[in-house]
Amino acid sequence: MRGIILAGGRGTRLAPMTAVTSKQLLPIYDKPMAYYPLSVLMLAGVRDILLISTPEDLPGFRRLLGDGSGFGCRVVYAEQPSPDGLAQAFIIGDPFIGGESCVLILGDNLFYGGGFHAAVRRASALAEEGSAVIFAYRVKDPTRYGVVRFDGSGAPASLEEKPARADNAFAIPGLYFYGPGVAEEARAVKPSPRGELEITDLNRRYLERGRLLVERLGRGVAWLDTGTPESLHDAAAFVQSIQDRQGLMIACIEEIAFDNGWIGREELAIAAERSKESAYGRYLRELTQRA
Ligand code: DAU
Repeated sequence: MRGIILAGGRGTRLAPMTAVTSKQLLPIYDKPMAYYPLSVLMLAGVRDILLISTPEDLPGFRRLLGDGSGFGCRVVYAEQPSPDGLAQAFIIGDPFIGGESCVLILGDNLFYGGGFHAAVRRASALAEEGSAVIFAYRVKDPTRYGVVRFDGSGAPASLEEKPARADNAFAIPGLYFYGPGVAEEARAVKPSPRGELEITDLNRRYLERGRLLVERLGRGVAWLDTGTPESLHDAAAFVQSIQDRQGLMIACIEEIAFDNGWIGREELAIAAERSKESAYGRYLRELTQRA
């Protein structure tokens, strides 16, 4: 399975923080935002990763992540010249996807919690069999998101992007799994009234053919987005309080690679040395000494 991180856009709601840098390179507490979606792909077992961003911001991501070998992955890059919609990621990524199954994650979405790891592993296996798999999550104000409504039997009945009213609707997080052929499906999507290739329109194509599975993420899973100064601050406070309490790091990409057997102690030690003055580096150093 191939993985795409979409990390473009203008970050206008975070100006002037985003005046000279990409939103997805801003920190969430102690690490760059992009580490969080990257760690989700790695937890799903995905090592082949395409990062899509603006032509101006790509050099920063390249400097940060390189070719991915430091965390056992292969990372390549592509430009999205203008933010023409989330579904465009599959058209840009078509040569990279190469007829495989594929997962897209938005570069500003953070997931954490019990059962999440198992849920992404399950979604990945189902997508490899040809289904599209998305998630449903209860939020206080679903009108800010793409939403799904279920019928009486619990099957997905309808999808809508930022509806005016959202009774009985669940938000759809920015994490989407597809079987082979998603680029062709994305090419068939027409621009919406706001001029974007909407991911919700792409997902509706799968729903209409009975090929969309929607998995509900329960209250044990935290899903946070980071589009405004308030939500960015909330996400940082969340990461800090969990990490301080448990002594474990959220989205430590070298730890996940090590646990997956993708890198050894030597690579871990190199990464630790690179950040040796920080708590992140000290955490990696302790991992190298773990039995
Ligand atoms: O966060 C989940 C939501 O993400 C979903 O529930 C919605 O269905 C989906 O449309 C999207 O809604 P947003 O309002 O968050 O979309 P936004 O335009 O803000 O884009 C999300 C991120 O993707 C943002 O960090 C910018 C980046 N982006 C966006 C577009 C449209 C790109 O990199 N390229 C793009 O073309």
